[in-house]
Amino acid sequence: MSASCSGGVPLGSVIVKGLILAGGAGTRLRPITHTSAKQLVPIANKPILFYGIEGLAAAGISEIGIVVGETGDDIRAAVGDGSSWGIKVTYILQEVPLGLAHCVLIAKEFLGNDDFVMYLGDNMLEEDLVALVDRYREDRCVGEIDCRILLKKVDNPSSFGVAEIGPGGRVIRLVEKPADPPSDLALVGVYLFNAEIHRAVRSIRPSARGELEITDAIQWLIDEGRTIDFNTLDGWWIDTGKKDPLLECNRTVLDTIDRQLDGEVDANSQIEGRVRLGQGSSIINSTIRGPIVIGDGVVIEDSFIGPYTALGDGCTVRASEIDNSVVLADCTIDHAGRLTGSLIGRSTEIIHSTRHPPAVTLMLGDHSVVEIP
Ligand code: DAU
Repeated sequence: MSASCSGGVPLGSVIVKGLILAGGAGTRLRPITHTSAKQLVPIANKPILFYGIEGLAAAGISEIGIVVGETGDDIRAAVGDGSSWGIKVTYILQEVPLGLAHCVLIAKEFLGNDDFVMYLGDNMLEEDLVALVDRYREDRCVGEIDCRILLKKVDNPSSFGVAEIGPGGRVIRLVEKPADPPSDLALVGVYLFNAEIHRAVRSIRPSARGELEITDAIQWLIDEGRTIDFNTLDGWWIDTGKKDPLLECNRTVLDTIDRQLDGEVDANSQIEGRVRLGQGSSIINSTIRGPIVIGDGVVIEDSFIGPYTALGDGCTVRASEIDNSVVLADCTIDHAGRLTGSLIGRSTEIIHSTRHPPAVTLMLGDHSVVEIP
C-alpha cells in the first residue's frame, strides 16, 4: 500500500474490524421471519446479509463479528466461518434484542480497542465501502475524527434516526424516530467508530422503547465534545426490513444484472432482456421478460414471468403470471392467476382451487397477509 499516515505508518496498520448486526426480531417481515432471519431474505436471489459481508471484505476488512439472536443457527449455516469471502467471522450471541448500542456493548471482547465499521445487516446501499473505510483510516491516522456517520435525505424521516446539522456544518443533534424530525437527513445503517464508542454505550440508558440506542450513544459522544463527521449519500440506500422497501431493493439490484442463460429454453418460449437463468432450470412454452433472476432447478411452464421478479432455486411455476415479486426457494405456483408485488416464503404452494361454488382455501402461517380480488 503506497498511502501512509503523516508519521509514515502505513494506512493499513489502522486496524478496522467489521461488526454486522443480524439479530433482532424481524417483526415487520413476518411471517417470513417466523422461520428464518430477515437478513437472509434474498435480494436478486442472494441473502441481504451477503451484500454487507462482500462490501466489508472488499474494503479490506478481514475480521468481522456478526451479532446474532434467535435465528443465529440459520445465519451460522449460511455464512459459516467466512472463508468463502476470505474473511474470519466471529459470532456474538445477543440473547435478547436490547438495541444497537447493546450490540456494541456485548461485542467489546471481539472489538477490543480497534476501530470498526458497524453495519446493520438489513441495510443495503449502492456506495461501495472501500472509499469510505479508506477515508476513515486516513482521518484516524491524523487523529482528526472519532466517529463518522452516513446520512441520506428521505421523505419519511420519522421512520429513522435523524441528524440535525448546525450552522458550522457539524452534527449537533441526533434523534431516534422523532415525531417532529429536525431535518430530512436519516441515519444510514453504516457507522465508523473508534474505541470512544465503548464509553458511550456504557453511559447511556434505555430509550422509551426499551432499547440502548446507537443514536443516543453518538449523541453522548457529541455532548462529550468528540468529533463526529458525516458523509451524505448520493446513491440509493434501502432499509429492507419491510416488504415494500424489500421489493424496491430487489428491483434496484435486478436493474444491474446481466443476461446469462445457463438453463434450457424450448422453442416455444421467449426470453426478453436481462434474464439470469440458473443451471438445470427449464422454460417451457413461456415468456420471461427481464430484469429477472431465476435460480437453479426451476421449472416454468405455460407462464409469464414479468419484470423485477426473483425466483429461488427449486421453484415450479405452471400456468401462472408473476411480476415484481420475490419468491423464495422450493415454491409451487400452479394455475394461480397473476401474482404481483408479492413476497413468498420457502416451500409455499399456491395452486388453483377447483371448489364449486368458487372459494379460496388457505393454510397460512401467523401474520400472513393475503389480498384477494
Ligand atoms: O436502517 C437505518 C436505521 O436503523 C437508523 O436510521 C436508525 O437510527 C437505527 O436505530 C436503526 O433503526 P431500525 O429500527 O430500522 O433498526 P432495526 O431494529 O431494524 O435493527 C437494525 C439491524 O440490527 C437489523 O439487522 C437487526 C439488528 N439488531 C437490532 C436490534 C434492535 C440486532 O442485531 N440487535 C438488536 O438488539
